[in-house]
Amino acid sequence: MNILLTGGAGYIGSHAAVVLCAAGHNVVILDNFCNSQHSVLDRLTKIVGKPMPCIEGDIRDTLLLEKVLKDYKIETVMHFAGLKAVGESVQNPLDYFDNNVGGTISLLHAMRSNNVKSMVFSSSATVYGMPNYLPLDEAHPTQAKNPYGRSKLHIEEILTDLAASDPAWHISFLRYFNPVGAHESGLIGEDPNGIPNNLVPYIAQVALGRLPHLNVYGDDYPTADGSGVRDYIHVMDLAEGHLAALNYIQQQPGVCVFNLGSGKGSSVFEVVKVFENENASSIPLKVTMRRIGDVSECYAKVDKANIHLNWKATRTLQDMCRSTWNFQKNHKCANQ
Ligand SMILES: NC(=O)c1ccc[n+]([C@@H]2O[C@H](COP(=O)([O-])OP(=O)(O)OC[C@H]3O[C@@H](n4cnc5c(N)ncnc54)[C@H](O)[C@@H]3O)[C@@H](O)[C@H]2O)c1
Repeated sequence: MNILLTGGAGYIGSHAAVVLCAAGHNVVILDNFCNSQHSVLDRLTKIVGKPMPCIEGDIRDTLLLEKVLKDYKIETVMHFAGLKAVGESVQNPLDYFDNNVGGTISLLHAMRSNNVKSMVFSSSATVYGMPNYLPLDEAHPTQAKNPYGRSKLHIEEILTDLAASDPAWHISFLRYFNPVGAHESGLIGEDPNGIPNNLVPYIAQVALGRLPHLNVYGDDYPTADGSGVRDYIHVMDLAEGHLAALNYIQQQPGVCVFNLGSGKGSSVFEVVKVFENENASSIPLKVTMRRIGDVSECYAKVDKANIHLNWKATRTLQDMCRSTWNFQKNHKCANQ
């Protein structure tokens, strides 16, 4: 199948590109590189053994999208492109709605006029807001608490309305929990600009000596060791979930939604311990106050994806920490 990956040069999109190529699909990347590097393309070539077509451009450029869909005879779209930093979205909500929601509307216009009506969309567990109960299943009320989460929710609503208006659409929302880790080659991985927002990339920066210590926001939560608990999923498991969703929607018109997580919660202290054990390093910690809006625990119920997509996360927290460090070490050398 000919598949367009918007945001395919980014962290999750690049790993999905590898999995889709290995499954025999033709992948085309469209990215504006606002949060990724051009060198990812060479690294992808090394992994898959052939260059992947990439168009540098913005999803808000509808005419460009129309041309790409036509030129490459695209049959389906995996829509990863988006801005994703919660704090930044609170500072600049308009940028987030413009890029994420406006960009998606532009993409959908181009798709509709080219009769491409199949999409796998990168949504987020953020759409659930504060958990009313755990584990979070797909029927949990959505109550996003920040502009980033609301941008994802608006997109889900737009896609739902679109599918209701025309039964030819086949759409899946994948609500990711916390993607971590890297491809086993160590060539691609998460490489955030500036100070990382996520726990494991932050730990890796501390291990590299670029940051002095890890802040642990609260050790008095009602969890086993007092630190916050989250559901971490290996990025390669997540990428394989996209392939499973792609196969599923071929037979399934309308909209379907799946949580992609491990289904298991791990605490901050647990993640630090595993990282230290796997990589023989010591991570200095500073316990500080809880952050406003943080919940004590959050993890997914993943039965729906297990049953309908025949997909399950198989990689462990050890795998996530080891592969993150492998990528960071390689990447550090490559950048020196
Ligand atoms: N990583 C996570 O923790 C996480 C969790 C839940 C959901 N998501 C969602 O998954 C998707 C992929 O996330 P990621 O971690 O790979 O992020 P990323 O920033 O690494 O990748 C996103 C890519 O999209 C590109 N992009 C952004 N706006 C664009 C635009 N207007 N036109 C073209 N390209 C554009 C960026 O340059 C980047 O390469 C995002 O939509 C994100 O919101 C990520």
